[in-house]
Amino acid sequence: MIKKYQYGKPFETDAVVEKIPVTSDAVPYGTVCTENGFSFTCSLEKNDAVYGLGENIRGINKRGYLYISQASDDGVHTEAKHSLYAAHNFIVVSGEEPFGLFVDYPGRLSFDIGYTEQNTIRISCDDANLYLYVINGDSPYDIVKQFRKIIGRSYIPPRFAFGFGQSRWGYASADDFKKVVKEHRDAHIPMDMLYMDIDYMQDYKDFTVNQQEFPDFKAFVEEMKAQNIHLVPIIDAGVKVEEGYSVYEEGKAKNYFCKRKDGTDFEAAVWPGWTHFPDVLNPEARAWFGSNYETLISQGIDGFWNDMNEPAIFYSREGFNEVKDYIKDFLADGARENLTFELQEKVNSLANNTKDYDRFYHNVNGEMIPHRMVHNLFGYNMTRAAGEAFEKICPDKRILLFSRSSYIGMHRYGGIWTGDNKSWWSHILLNLKMLPSLNMCGFLYVGADLGGFGDDTTRDLVLRWLALGVFTPLMRNHSAIDTRNQEFYQFENTEDFRHVIGVRYRLIPYLYSEYMKAALGNDMMFKPLAFEYPDDTFAPQVEDQLMLGNEIMIAPVYTQNANGRYVYLPEEMIFVKFLPDGTIAQETLSQGHHYVEIALNEVPLFIRKGKCIPVVDAAECVDQIDFNTMQYIGYESASYDLYDDDGVTPIAK
Ligand code: GLC
Repeated sequence: MIKKYQYGKPFETDAVVEKIPVTSDAVPYGTVCTENGFSFTCSLEKNDAVYGLGENIRGINKRGYLYISQASDDGVHTEAKHSLYAAHNFIVVSGEEPFGLFVDYPGRLSFDIGYTEQNTIRISCDDANLYLYVINGDSPYDIVKQFRKIIGRSYIPPRFAFGFGQSRWGYASADDFKKVVKEHRDAHIPMDMLYMDIDYMQDYKDFTVNQQEFPDFKAFVEEMKAQNIHLVPIIDAGVKVEEGYSVYEEGKAKNYFCKRKDGTDFEAAVWPGWTHFPDVLNPEARAWFGSNYETLISQGIDGFWNDMNEPAIFYSREGFNEVKDYIKDFLADGARENLTFELQEKVNSLANNTKDYDRFYHNVNGEMIPHRMVHNLFGYNMTRAAGEAFEKICPDKRILLFSRSSYIGMHRYGGIWTGDNKSWWSHILLNLKMLPSLNMCGFLYVGADLGGFGDDTTRDLVLRWLALGVFTPLMRNHSAIDTRNQEFYQFENTEDFRHVIGVRYRLIPYLYSEYMKAALGNDMMFKPLAFEYPDDTFAPQVEDQLMLGNEIMIAPVYTQNANGRYVYLPEEMIFVKFLPDGTIAQETLSQGHHYVEIALNEVPLFIRKGKCIPVVDAAECVDQIDFNTMQYIGYESASYDLYDDDGVTPIAK
């Protein structure tokens, strides 16, 4: 049962697709106050857990911290942060009478979940113009499923997107890319996608390709396809200001860029230098921005990642001028000869300064809406621009698409990757914890930069992280320029990587099947143990194991120098290990706590009592998977309902 409440004049985000009439009933479970902005306050019982909030820091149970929905370009994901790149304003409170809340509000919103007061939730924002959805149901899981239904079906990628993809910021020429492919193919490390970061472009201009490095891009795309490699270019939010550049010229002429109050185009510096932001909240501008993807699609491209769409701002023209004036004054003042912290702070405060959100506007049906009011919708609508355009450009084909920033609603158009994590052991666990929370908010095609984006990685970290990554729909190794080389072939004993990535391919029929069941049934692919075993004493507290689909539990190793880990089984299960010699070890373990040994080059999973899963032989790309090699592992008398389709044709909604 879902109730919709309206306060003031909400901005229509299109997060919810089902028509629900607004009710004037009293809000249950808590108190709403609209005096100074908006707040919803309710109390928690000692053992109530709070789930949701999608892409975020901290645990699966979000209790005990302050989360702020304000899409931020911040590449240091420590526990101390309050926001990451997304705003996923949905929570579920467990307990005697479980309930869910979705606050459809695209500005800055705080979720104080037992942070100020241990037993109190307070959700608040400065402006009381929003919709509040209150959902009750039999259990947190039931509430999630009801919510998922009203926000519409999750994005369905092409099947090749379940293969492994290699990425690194810094590949710049056709030769760089060819080398990566050759190394993988020579070492027989499976691979389906090769990501193109910003250096493929001409001067970081969206929808352009560096002509010198790729003299015949179309032929290059074809050459890669012949080797079963899909090239996946990045598209950034900012359009470079450069006379003669057609995207810039057209956007400017048609008034499709975000404007200042005085009607001039807002200027923000990002990778290309000065840029304008396409006004993706204006339907006409959104359709125009989306239509530009055709430039690359017509050259054979069938996948994209949308980046810098919080939107990230290194500095605005206004901020830049302020600092210039400040430095002038600073230098004119003879008494202040040395560089001081003050100056440093001033310069550092330029990037992603929220003051800039008051400096530009969106044209929504002729009304100028300040960016601050709708900040969290930018990435969503940039990705929607692409998704809506694909339906026109190639209605018969699924296109791979994922974004960095997002809001609920975007899950219908694409997936997400979780942004600039680090090569830290703690980030394996953070990756795991985000998975069910993301699924609760509709995001199914998800994954992290495996091995870590920032900082220098280590071989053991990459292998352990991969043993989680083999299960995430988006499986990509991505790293930042100037960090230690992170391609698998850069490490000793490459065969270990071949084996672990091979396990991914052995599991693709199962993973694809479970993904599709989750997407078509508005269900979760990754669940906290609490959702399957709500009455178990320990299961609700488990934060480092997940249920995947209806058959398996995963429990990766995420600590350095460990030979294995402790695992909790809420029921009897078969402990499966994919061994490096290609065999599969199976051992039945009783309900309870166990220590299981797992070597660096082994991939573990647990099959639930009475279930089995399909496994095929490893292949070097998705198209070469031989379904005739399919066998079932797990409980002998069990059967499995395999979903399959051609992996390409869009599925009617
Ligand atoms: C951003 C992205 C990262 C990318 C880099 C360069 O930091 O999050 O994935 O490599 O920009 O484009």
